[in-house]
Parts: sequence; C-alpha cells; structure tokens
Amino acid sequence: MTPQSSLISLEGSQWGATGVGLQPRPVAHHPWRDRIAAVPSGHLVLAPHVAACHIVDVVEDHLTVGQAAGLAGVTVRALHHYDEIGLLRPSTRTVAGHRAYSAGDVERLREVLAYRRLGFGLREIADLVNDPTTDAVAHLRRLRGLLLDQRDRAAATVTAIDRELEARAMGVRTTPAEQLKVFGAQLYDTIGSAYPTTRRTEPRIAARIWDALGDARTVLNVGAGTGSYEPHDREVTAVEPSGVMRAQRPVGAAPCVAAAAESLPFEDQSFDAAMAVSTVHHWRDPVAGLREMRRVARRVVVFTYDAEDTGWGQRFWLTRDYLPEFAELLVNWPSLADLTHAIGGRAEPVLVPWDCVDGFFEAHWRRPAAYLDEHVRRAVSVWTRVGAQAEQRAVRSLREDLSSGRWAERNRDLVALDTAELGLRLLVA
Ligand SMILES: C[S@@+](CC[C@H](N)C(=O)[O-])C[C@H]1O[C@@H](n2cnc3c(N)ncnc32)[C@H](O)[C@@H]1O
Repeated sequence: MTPQSSLISLEGSQWGATGVGLQPRPVAHHPWRDRIAAVPSGHLVLAPHVAACHIVDVVEDHLTVGQAAGLAGVTVRALHHYDEIGLLRPSTRTVAGHRAYSAGDVERLREVLAYRRLGFGLREIADLVNDPTTDAVAHLRRLRGLLLDQRDRAAATVTAIDRELEARAMGVRTTPAEQLKVFGAQLYDTIGSAYPTTRRTEPRIAARIWDALGDARTVLNVGAGTGSYEPHDREVTAVEPSGVMRAQRPVGAAPCVAAAAESLPFEDQSFDAAMAVSTVHHWRDPVAGLREMRRVARRVVVFTYDAEDTGWGQRFWLTRDYLPEFAELLVNWPSLADLTHAIGGRAEPVLVPWDCVDGFFEAHWRRPAAYLDEHVRRAVSVWTRVGAQAEQRAVRSLREDLSSGRWAERNRDLVALDTAELGLRLLVA
C-alpha cells in the first residue's frame, strides 16, 4: 500500500482489519459514488486517534469538503462551521489536514440539511441528530412526516390566499379570525413569547390529567408549548410546531419534536399514552389530530372545551357581556361528540377553580380586573383572534363596569363560588 492511495479512518468505519493485515469489508453502494471524483490521491487521511485507526486504501468512499458542499448545494464555509460547532465532524482528515466525509458523515449531513430546510435551529438539530435512540430510518420517517406537514400547510396557505384575493376582488373584507385561521401554529410564533408570563401548571387540573394517564410510562404531549402539564415521573416526548414555543421550554424539559398533531412522525402504538392540553382548538384539523393521537398511543387524554353547549358561553360573563365575538371563533368547530368519537372515549367536566394558576381564557372568572392586564390577555390567543378593535372595546367596557360597580352587581352570585363550570372538558380514551 503506498501512502498516495491510503486513507486512515476512524474505528467504526466500513473498513477494518480482517485476519492478517488490513482488508476492506464489503462496501455498500452509495449513489454519490458514481457521480464524484475520489478524494485526490496523495492525500493520506489521518484520524484524530491514529492508534485506533484503520488504514484503508479506497479513497472513493470519502468526499472532500468541496465535493460534499457541491453535492449538497451548501457553501464550504457552512460545512466548516458545522464542523467547528460539532454538528457535523467529518470522521477523517487528510495528512494535509483536509476534511474527508465518509458515507456515515454524508448520511448525517443529509439529516442536518433536511432539518435545516424544515426551519430547525442548529442547536435543535444537534440535539436531534445526536439522539442515540433515533437511527437513520427513524430520522427519515420523522423527516418525511414533517415535510408532508409542511407541504400541507403550504397548500392550505395558498388556498387561504386565493380565497382572500377572491373576497377582496368582490369588495368583501375577511375577519381577523379568518385571516389568522390558516396560520394556526404560526400564530404562536407571533404571540408565543408572551405565554410564560401567566401560563403555568394549575396543580388541580394537572392532577386530573395525570390521573387519567393511568399507569402509562411513555407519554406523548401534543401541542406541548412550554410543557406546563408534562408529568415528571414518566418518559415524556413533546410535539410542538411553533419554534418560539419550543425555544421557551425550560432547561431539562422533555425532548421536543417540531411537528403538528395532524401528522405525527411516530409509528403506530409507539406510546403508552398521548395527551393534549389547551391546544386542540388551534389545530387545523382537530379530528385528524385526535385520530393521530389514537394511532400512536394506547390511551388518549385531552383537555379541551365543549363549543357546542352555548349555555356556558352565556354563563361566562366575559363572552356574554363584553366579548360576543368569541362565538365567531367557534363556528365550524367540531362538536364534543365528534371529538370524543375521534378518540373513542368519554368527556368529563373540569371545573375551573376561582384562583386558577394557569392564566387561560376562563381562568379569571372571579377576578375580573385581571382581564384589564395586557400581560394576561397577550398570553391567551382568543384576544388576538378576535382582533384589536373587539379587544379594546371589551376592555374599555369592562373597566368602566368595574369602576361603576356594574360588574359586581351583575355577577354578585360568583363571589360565593369556588369553582365554575365553564365548558372545559377532559376527554379520556
Ligand atoms: C395554548 S398553547 C398550550 C400549550 C400547552 N399544551 C399548555 O398547556 O401550556 C397551544 C399550543 O398548541 C400549539 N399548536 C398549534 N397548532 C398545532 C397543531 N396543529 N398541532 C400541535 N400543536 C399545535 C401551539 O403552537 C401552542 O404551543
């Protein structure tokens, strides 16, 4: 073997010692092998731990950094950067110190670039590709699911734009709710940074959810947000489409996959239970998302509300007296029967405690002044969805009624209540 034709590569490459001397193991055929020139001969490739290296003599199985960059359509600078930050370290180097990419490195580059194309940040990608429990096939399946979801979202957005163009051509103005509906998850990229200020675990509701999870050991949390209701004594995997929400998950929170409920990138029955808290009303297709939960898990627990029973809308003074526009958000919303049917389960009422810690829309039913606080409203999507005009009018009117005593007069019965039935439901299957 002459130095000119030799490579030294890392332990674990597809070449290794067999018997006396170093012989190549059979090499899998890689599509790029036919299309590229080999690493220029004369480059002896050295591994960082030379003692543990194998000397091999088939240079065709490695790409130079220029070749890898050219094939992938990225700059050499980008590959150098990936190497420097430890995202993609080529497993071999030439004597001259040049990077050489093995088949395994190329596979990893493919994963990095695919996650990048989906909008993941480099740090998130590092977490994903370094996960020892995810092999190449699992990455491919996950990427496929995410890309299909992205394709569907793009198609839905084009349809919505076409509709709006048609409406405008006819002189019709669409409502804020209609304009935002198609964006669903993107809404949280806009409003999500305000979320952690007032949204946190309400222990009494958490206890109901965790109880309903039964003895599930592995739990998928769909529409996980910052993870407020994730149980700490089980193995949780989170799914969250909004990058802003994912970025706000606390250090040490369960691993989070960027995906949407309607297309979960998991095998059938791969979790003991799937849970979804205060999220189903944001999904583009709630029934499809619930069916997905049913597909990937043996048990399903969903905290949502009954949009059909308009009685509760009338009972809640906020929607009845100040924000009737809320009813528009429920148009076309699937019935509770449709939702429970999608998971094949039952619905149980969840009463809202008067001092509810999680600042969701109904949480402050006995503390009306809270709705005057901009922070409280910004952490609840309803206020964005109804539009600024309706919001400002509702807040102005509530402020006046609180200072005139009109609110207290109208709602004097509430003071005696510790909990309220405001249409919140736990679906369990
Ligand atoms: C009100 S937050 C609830 C977050 C969390 N479950 C909690 O209880 O704090 C709603 C979440 O649903 C997410 N979401 C929106 N559309 C989704 C979809 N199609 N699939 C999964 N999650 C979605 C949003 O990005 C947001 O993080």
